[in-house]
Amino acid sequence: MRINDKLGARLKELGVELRPTVPLSEKTSLGIGGTTDQLLLREFETIPDVMHLLADENIPHRFLGGGTNVLIADGELPYVVLHLPTSQPGMRVEGNAAYVDAAADLGGMVTFCAKRDLGGMEGLIGVPGSVGGALRMNAGAYGTQIGSYVREVELYRAATGKLETLRGDDIRFDYRHTSFAPDDVMLRVKLELPQKPFKDILAIIKVCNEKRRASQPLNQKSAGCIFKNPPGGSAGRMIDELGLKGHRVGDAMVSDRHANFFVNVANASGADMLRLIDEVRERVRATYGIELENEVIFWKN
Ligand code: EPU
Repeated sequence: MRINDKLGARLKELGVELRPTVPLSEKTSLGIGGTTDQLLLREFETIPDVMHLLADENIPHRFLGGGTNVLIADGELPYVVLHLPTSQPGMRVEGNAAYVDAAADLGGMVTFCAKRDLGGMEGLIGVPGSVGGALRMNAGAYGTQIGSYVREVELYRAATGKLETLRGDDIRFDYRHTSFAPDDVMLRVKLELPQKPFKDILAIIKVCNEKRRASQPLNQKSAGCIFKNPPGGSAGRMIDELGLKGHRVGDAMVSDRHANFFVNVANASGADMLRLIDEVRERVRATYGIELENEVIFWKN
């Protein structure tokens, strides 16, 4: 979708930088995604005005965070993509509390807190993506989920058109799911973390990193796990048992290292990846009678 010059000029007055016709394949860890205009915001405070402007002009939009858990369709996309201010996302610690901007890198946040002797989130160290994306999905690994530490979230609520602050107790954090509305935009979070000496945190981080390196295809283009684990089961194990490691549709392939990671081995299209997802889901359903649910977010056109 293209922003016309008149709207571009009004957005500029709000401090928004317009980058025309950006291939989103360059903005996602899967290396997949069509093209559209990209809008870079400078201040959280301008979000309501920017949203009103886009609504007045009937311009559909989506916010893209780290791009590590999303599968975007091919071709010219029927929406523009917005990015939060990312030049220097804020992070600060006060006692047991950490205040972090949603655009900050998740691993960077874990390390920042660790250096100030705040732990608890060691398991999240190798999870790629932004703090905002991790909040929305309640990212988790090795027994840690970010939601356990959330005390406050500042967000833009599309439903009210306002910036709001929610208390942690008023947000539901489930397995890879939260009670945020799909069009809520995460802006900042306050976390409460247990005190732990840096060297103890580092020791746990090392173990998690080793486990991850041994079992996941970290040097290939992927979006992490494609499916959620069904209750009491493991999507990766089932797909592996079906002998589907290495199974391909075009350049989209079931990783031969971890069967719940689907990788883009060269120039996979969104359509290839989707077909692979559907084929694998169908094979699991036919054999195990279980309908796997996507963990990766799919941005349809
Ligand atoms: N397994 C296989 N073959 C495979 C992959 C796994 O047999 O190809 C077996 C493993 O041997 C193990 C079991 O399946 O017995 C579970 O595997 P693993 O420990 O790798 O964990 P997972 O359940 O597949 C989950 C999260 C990961 C997270 C790891 C570590 C989901 C969907 N996945 O994977 O998160 O990193 O635990 O905590 O919950 C993600 O969210 O994108 C993600 C990768």
